[in-house]
Amino acid sequence: MSKAKTIDSVDLSGKRVFVRVDFNVPLDSAGTISDDSRIVAALPTIKRLIEQGAKIILGSHLGRPKGKRVPEMSLAPIARELSEKLGQPVSFVNDCIGDEVKAAAEALEPGQVLLLENLRYHEGEEKNDPEFTKQLAANAEAYVNDAFGTAHRAHASTAGVCDFLTPKVAGYLIEKELAYLGEKTGNPERPFVVILGGAKVSDKIAVIDSLLEKADTMLIGGAMAYTFALANGRTVGESLCEVDKVDTAKAALSKAAEKGVKFLLPSDNLVAKGLNFKAKSVAETQIISGNIPEGWEGVDIGPETIKTFSEEIAGAKTILWNGPMGIFEISECSKGTFAVADAVASNNGTSIIGGGDSVKAIKNSGFSDKVTFMSTGGGASLEFLEGKTLPGVAALDQE
Ligand code: 3PG
Repeated sequence: MSKAKTIDSVDLSGKRVFVRVDFNVPLDSAGTISDDSRIVAALPTIKRLIEQGAKIILGSHLGRPKGKRVPEMSLAPIARELSEKLGQPVSFVNDCIGDEVKAAAEALEPGQVLLLENLRYHEGEEKNDPEFTKQLAANAEAYVNDAFGTAHRAHASTAGVCDFLTPKVAGYLIEKELAYLGEKTGNPERPFVVILGGAKVSDKIAVIDSLLEKADTMLIGGAMAYTFALANGRTVGESLCEVDKVDTAKAALSKAAEKGVKFLLPSDNLVAKGLNFKAKSVAETQIISGNIPEGWEGVDIGPETIKTFSEEIAGAKTILWNGPMGIFEISECSKGTFAVADAVASNNGTSIIGGGDSVKAIKNSGFSDKVTFMSTGGGASLEFLEGKTLPGVAALDQE
């Protein structure tokens, strides 16, 4: 398998480098960043380029403005935050193409950093429009992609730009994400325990299928488990499930048996009545083993399952976790997810959190510094774990 070249293989000193980062971070109405992980994750690459004396032009999207200038999705607050983190000025231009950008890029001295305005203010970005791409590339002499979270998109700044710029290499974040989500899970230290949760079998089936080739044990939680329960002939009451995916779940169960993968579903559940997601409340709850009766909805794994899952996690040498065990946003339904977070954090082997809600859960649990790696990708990490080629990586120079 080919491997993308990284910034360690090139000398970019004195060059104007277009660096695609994923600064798609949560912002409140006052422009305050509530989670800066993606900015922090891009720092090693930016610092390396500063040290080398490159002239750095950073580009990112924020949200989905769909080709319009949406003021709340401006990257201006990120420039301020980044400047503080780097301890040096970060200049900001109001657009990502055009005369003003050209002038700002040409004025850069070695080691200076310029952040462009939201790439998705232009329709050409998501359309990978050649004219837009050409204009984006025109101000640079080399390309670095460090936007792992957006590497599953074939957009102008993630893929198209590679037709116009050479060298084109991966930054340290992409390198690290590929190492943990790819190499460490592709050739894992065993036992390799995979924990998968989330709402839908349909969202995760490709990941399940791909990881059944590698895992020793697979622990299934979240609403997805109720579709598997149906496949095993159980009743699930009012629980969220996909009746049309029961055959898909059955096929996964057969594959697990065929491959000798220990495939564990919850033996008990916390079930609720009167769930109100908006008010983050439930009227009534109880623990049920086996069949869930009518009128009740499964909202978390139960204590017996927590014990079994925690024991499996404790014995693992490699752990990959993606997706919560229950509706962890509601405190009564969060025990299972936080118990899994605790068990993962207590394990001394390699623990990889595969992005999205499980990263949120591990952060909320206060254990994030105890895991080996937390992916910055949501959709990108899932697609990569499914075994798909990421366009933003495939377009780079290969070793
Ligand atoms: C993400 O947040 O998953 C990435 O930034 C990609 O964003 P997108 O789903 O809007 O392309």
